[in-house]
Amino acid sequence: MSGPNDRPGHPGIPNGWFAVAWSKDVPVGQVERIRYFDQEMVLFRTRSGAAKVLDAYCAHLGAHLAEGGRVMDETVRCPFHAWQYDGDGRVTHIPYCKKIPPRARVRAWPVDERNGMIFVWHHAEGKPPDWEVPDLPELNDPEWTEPRLFELKVPVHMQEMAENNCDPTHFYYVHGAPGIPPTEMTYGEDGRFFRVNSRGPKETPFGTFDMDLERDTWGMGLSSVRMKGIPDAGLFMFSSTSPVDAGNAHSRWLFTTTRNMADVAGEEFIDGMSRGVLQDMRIWENKIYRHDPVLCEADEYLAEFRKWSKQFYSPRPDAG
Ligand code: FES
Ligand SMILES: [Fe+2]
Repeated sequence: MSGPNDRPGHPGIPNGWFAVAWSKDVPVGQVERIRYFDQEMVLFRTRSGAAKVLDAYCAHLGAHLAEGGRVMDETVRCPFHAWQYDGDGRVTHIPYCKKIPPRARVRAWPVDERNGMIFVWHHAEGKPPDWEVPDLPELNDPEWTEPRLFELKVPVHMQEMAENNCDPTHFYYVHGAPGIPPTEMTYGEDGRFFRVNSRGPKETPFGTFDMDLERDTWGMGLSSVRMKGIPDAGLFMFSSTSPVDAGNAHSRWLFTTTRNMADVAGEEFIDGMSRGVLQDMRIWENKIYRHDPVLCEADEYLAEFRKWSKQFYSPRPDAG
């Protein structure tokens, strides 16, 4: 797909954890072709239940492991000459040869599976993970509803979507809702995480309460929103936005509410969410990425986000 984001100036593909699939879509024995970080990969679930991700192209003659590949025990078998790769990317078996060539391997990507999603660690320089995918207590709590899932692909650099959260002004002009400005911002110890609390009275289906909107961000791709303030009730949303390449992003969202809110808030929340995304879409589909935007005094939080985001980019080989 070509668009305004193919133009130079985008910051590259960020480093971090990004979802590449819903767990439910990858049962045991499944082989999936996936493309993120501008890379072709194969995702498979072994017989013992572990999700694994490898570079897609076989070390032998370059067949795509996901196009006809099959899971054999703990390995994926190439469709072309049946070499078998384990989850570390090593060829462990060639059915017609005793000796396995020492270079018979492909890159294995670090995988973490939790919260109903399969995450892959991307690092442009190949460095290992230096932070963890968060555990979300709401997802394993019987007081909370089964999460509803929602996903969409957007033709923008993924940073544009992360930035949207830090742009209170656009909530008014694009979404017709007053943006609640952040009232408190806290960074985690390692600087990869931050939390923004916005407090103020807000109308809800249960009446008007002094609400606390708590937004957490882990790296460039992962974030959550907790709505607190209605007595004995809560709303929770988690999202992962993954770079497909420099001009395309893939977002996955999940929502859950306390059971007492399920009927009232669940539907409304999802409807509001999808409406909101459609409103952003026309902007996203047609904008360019401004590396050095002209900001005004109301953009304090945006500026802060841009500064923070720099830590997730490796220097680009083609940068001057
Ligand atoms: S290309 Fe994969 S085994 Fe030959
Ligand atoms: Fe928006």
